[in-house]
Amino acid sequence: MIHEVAVIPGDGIGPEVVEAALGVLDAAAEAHGGVRFRYTHFPWSCRYYAEHGRMMPEEGLQTLSGFESIFLGAVGWPGVPDHVSLWGLLLPIRRRFEQYINYRPLRLLRGLRSPLKGIEPGDIDLVIVRENNEGEYSNMGGRIYEGTPREIVIQNTVFTRTGTERVVRFAFELARRRSRRLVSATKSNGINFTMPFWDQVVGEIAREYPDVTVSSYHIDALAAYFVLRPKTLDVVVGSNLFGDILSDLAAAIVGGIGLAPSANLNPERKYPSMFEPVHGSAPDIAGKGIANPTAAIWSAALMAEHLGHPDIASAIVQALEDTLAAGIVTPDQGGSAKTADVAAAVKARVRGRS
Ligand code: NAD
Ligand code: IPM
Ligand code: MN
Repeated sequence: MIHEVAVIPGDGIGPEVVEAALGVLDAAAEAHGGVRFRYTHFPWSCRYYAEHGRMMPEEGLQTLSGFESIFLGAVGWPGVPDHVSLWGLLLPIRRRFEQYINYRPLRLLRGLRSPLKGIEPGDIDLVIVRENNEGEYSNMGGRIYEGTPREIVIQNTVFTRTGTERVVRFAFELARRRSRRLVSATKSNGINFTMPFWDQVVGEIAREYPDVTVSSYHIDALAAYFVLRPKTLDVVVGSNLFGDILSDLAAAIVGGIGLAPSANLNPERKYPSMFEPVHGSAPDIAGKGIANPTAAIWSAALMAEHLGHPDIASAIVQALEDTLAAGIVTPDQGGSAKTADVAAAVKARVRGRS
């Protein structure tokens, strides 16, 4: 069986971690036999922008629609404003392909150290379910009287009933399969239209899941709970922006952003889903070969799982955890291994040679 995967390495450390992750995925597929991933690379990036004046060709989304899934590194580089690069590539992919769930699991794997006191491997094991198509990322608004004291800038926030119900329902389903506890991120004290609506939808859907206990916390208090009592968190559902911010926070409490994977899912499988690390292009360490490939490798495992190969996925995560536990870690985790060293060690383990 061959899976057709579109690969967009992107900018900065994107290509470095993508190479590491796909090498591991190939090794795992080979070890399991009968499955292959065929990659078609697309050079769409800020470099591409410099040459073509756009992040991807006009028919880029059409091209991607022919693939089973998409694997992406990171997008963004100084010289191209971030809103131009991201709205020219990553965000349109999430929207066009109705990848309305951003699934972001995190665990304190063996070999990692939480910066929090008294937290051991196994203590943190959570999933952020982030709305991925609407909310605060509306692309709607305007700016007038630019540069004058009368200047006004408006960014609209859009919550649809369909969009809210489907992400909340996905989170309840996931909670039902895990701890039966769901936390919802709100801010209905200050944001007085969208957030009371969000809470209302959570309350309505909760009635369909009497076996799941749901707690709503204002996002400010919830941010503190991530630090003060992370063991109590399991499935956390939030809007696009809240989910984004909680993702980096959740990554920080298990040791850093280089560890956090993500799956942009179109659960109906009508369109390709997209897999990518949560982190960005990290211009400060790009080109040095020291980026932590953990997030990208784990994202490749999420892709294997989505494509129907949970055995390959768990072999990858197991090998990754064994590698970290053996102390083969990049400088962000206090080690001296290079990106390629970590990838080679994980490959050896998925092949059963270490
Ligand atoms: P970032 O995630 O790129 O970097 C934040 C910090 O984390 C930096 O110090 C960086 O060195 C470190 N870091 C990130 N990934 C790492 C890894 N794998 N290993 C070790 N250290 C790692 O976030 P930023 O600095 O806010 O953004 C840089 C650029 O990336 C911007 O253009 C931004 O818009 C873009 N970005 C893209 C994506 C994406 O494509 N999905 C996500 C986030 C940011
Ligand atoms: C992420 C990133 C993106 C987001 C940016 C780069 C637009 O931070 O995937 O978490 O906010 O969704
Ligand atoms: Mn983010």
